[in-house]
Amino acid sequence: MKIGVLGAGQLGRMLALAGYPLGFQFRFLDHNPAACAGQVGELIVGEFNDYRALDRFVDGLDVVTYEFENVPVEAAQYLSSKLPVLPGAQALATAQDRAAEKSCFKELGIPTPLNHNVNDESDISKALGVTGLPAVFKTRRHGYDGKGQLVAHSEAEALQAWEKLGRVPLICEQHVPFERELSMVAARQITGECVFYPLTENWHTEGILRKSVPQTNINLDLQSRAESKIRSVMDHLGYVGVMALEFFLHKGRLLANEMAPRVHNSGHWTMDAGCVSQFENHLRAIAGLPLGSTQPLSISAMINLIGHAPEVDSILRAEPTARVHLYGKDPKPGRKLGHINITAPGLESLKRKTERLSKLVGG
Ligand SMILES: Nc1ncnc2c1ncn2[C@@H]1O[C@H](COP(=O)(O)OP(=O)(O)O)[C@@H](O)[C@H]1O
Ligand SMILES: [Mg+2]
Repeated sequence: MKIGVLGAGQLGRMLALAGYPLGFQFRFLDHNPAACAGQVGELIVGEFNDYRALDRFVDGLDVVTYEFENVPVEAAQYLSSKLPVLPGAQALATAQDRAAEKSCFKELGIPTPLNHNVNDESDISKALGVTGLPAVFKTRRHGYDGKGQLVAHSEAEALQAWEKLGRVPLICEQHVPFERELSMVAARQITGECVFYPLTENWHTEGILRKSVPQTNINLDLQSRAESKIRSVMDHLGYVGVMALEFFLHKGRLLANEMAPRVHNSGHWTMDAGCVSQFENHLRAIAGLPLGSTQPLSISAMINLIGHAPEVDSILRAEPTARVHLYGKDPKPGRKLGHINITAPGLESLKRKTERLSKLVGG
């Protein structure tokens, strides 16, 4: 089976690396000739809205998927007139627009931070009336790793945010003083069968994920509430593949922050903790194969390598049991260059190893 992936970043690269043992072949489409998945599979260089590039991309493929949610919906629709595109264009359209995403949550009765759309400067004071202060202003589209968002502590700062973010449609959200950030990664088959990984706790700085730890001492009530929320989103969208749903845990409530219609950074620990990885489960779902176990065989943690990565040698000398995943990208401030998965026989040793490696990577 030959799988086409829209986007050729690290997520595409890890999809291919997970898919080769199953006998899959991969082709990527990306505008960047140096995109890192090109090191591990055929890369077609072209814009997503260049229909000649899409035709070259699709020739000989069996199925198309994404590793990036900002693919134009028209491109996904064009491709789906020729072959299966999974997850479908509706999921893509919902996930790439924060306003559509929030109204999907609302329709399904999934609690979110208080929010209001800002299409014009004149909407700002009404929005603040809904959310209160502080508030987070986010561009409706194209934001990632905390880019395209600003926190405002006053109406004056809110007006500045409107200017700084480029006078484009925004969503204004209540700034939630959450206790924890959690995410759930799940996979759904075309038949509706779903599997769920354990809720994972995430730590961000400057909007970028630094560390993820799947929850070992799982609060089963929280896990099942999260599962029913992500299941209802996936069922609603007729979703096929892996999806992630990010939550804020605040006063015992799970507030949905955003969804990702793809494999997710907070699921990278699944590569080394003894279950079928999120990458393989995504491929199994889109290929119509049975989904694999999401049950970890070991406790684990994941640390991102951001901006710069220590030499592999120094990581492995510090901790020989560490599993290093480098993405083949040039260093640049704020750029995700790789991650380290850490496993351990007990919580104390996991904590020790994670602290030692966090210090080494500067996290
Ligand atoms: N309403 C909010 N209240 C508090 N923190 C927030 C809020 N929205 C975002 N954040 C923080 O910023 C991070 C990135 O925001 P997010 O909406 O997930 O955008 P993206 O991951 O697409 O950049 C979140 O993981 C969280 O740490
Ligand atoms: Mg996020």
